[in-house]
Amino acid sequence: MSPKVLVTGASGLLGRAIMRIFKEAGWETVGLAYSRVGPGLVKCDLTKPEEVKSLVEKEKPEFIVHAAAERAPDAVENRYDEVCKLNVNASGQLAALAKSVGARIIYVSTDYVFDGTSPPYKATDPTNPLNKYGITKLEGEKAVVAANPRACILRIPLLYGKVETIDESAVTCLLKLVKSSEEKYVSHYERRYPCLVDDIARILRDLVLQLIKDDSITGIFQWSGKQRLTKYDMAMAMAHAFSLKHNIKPDPNSVPGAQRPFDAELDRSRLENLGISHHMDFETAIKECLSEWV
Ligand SMILES: NC(=O)c1ccc[n+]([C@@H]2O[C@H](COP(=O)([O-])OP(=O)(O)OC[C@H]3O[C@@H](n4cnc5c(N)ncnc54)[C@H](OP(=O)(O)O)[C@@H]3O)[C@@H](O)[C@H]2O)c1
Repeated sequence: MSPKVLVTGASGLLGRAIMRIFKEAGWETVGLAYSRVGPGLVKCDLTKPEEVKSLVEKEKPEFIVHAAAERAPDAVENRYDEVCKLNVNASGQLAALAKSVGARIIYVSTDYVFDGTSPPYKATDPTNPLNKYGITKLEGEKAVVAANPRACILRIPLLYGKVETIDESAVTCLLKLVKSSEEKYVSHYERRYPCLVDDIARILRDLVLQLIKDDSITGIFQWSGKQRLTKYDMAMAMAHAFSLKHNIKPDPNSVPGAQRPFDAELDRSRLENLGISHHMDFETAIKECLSEWV
């Protein structure tokens, strides 16, 4: 079966990979964007309920993959009320619209719903976000499920992929430090499980296929990369991948800015039990992503 899928955040880091992988699968894919409306994308401000309603009712998708969000923790700290309109209210509205047009919705969430003190986290473990971004994404989960109890949620960790600017991902921006001749300290504290966006897009594709096979599936799914790396480890992998001379030093302190969980490793077993698993080795994948930036 070839479903019709509406993808929000289609111009974003994850959304671009979702669009590519879903189109490769031969699916009819309608991608929404806001400020970066490139070829083949439809402009829609998700914070404008009337705009969203008429678009969903016109397109009548069978699936909605909701990836749009403000996802930079430091940006959310000072703009909490404004960000809630997108991360919380729009998510609830999309879930309600999915129900009214008979579509299944998958809401993309984050490992930042956990405080990072007792990993690995099962989907059912108590949540306790440490920063306002994590709060908005958790409130988004709640709004989605309240509006549509058949909704699915996919929690994912730190992402990287092919970027439009080197600062687009918190992983790729480390290359600037690796290339610098000056001594640079990079956090060797918080543990991360970074994922290539293509892996997450394939997981979403496989999850949609599962929902087509078994319409009774609902609830929270989680995916986590299979390598535990600090920002320092990631920088070292970049240096190694490109044989770069560097002046990077491990910083024992946490990443500056909004408080982040120490280790919010997500338990992957629910997806793995469905036979869904995609993980590219970090050094191999980051080399491909960054080749044009070195
Ligand atoms: N990046 C990570 O490391 C990470 C980690 C865990 C979870 N996540 C989650 O994964 C999802 C995708 O993240 P990402 O990194 O791909 O984000 P991103 O690159 O920042 O993209 C955000 C997307 O949201 C869209 N958007 C922003 N404001 C909008 C509005 N008012 N109306 C409609 N669309 C709007 C943007 O559109 P324009 O660019 O066209 O304005 C863009 O397509 C998010 O839900 C995020 O919370 C991300």
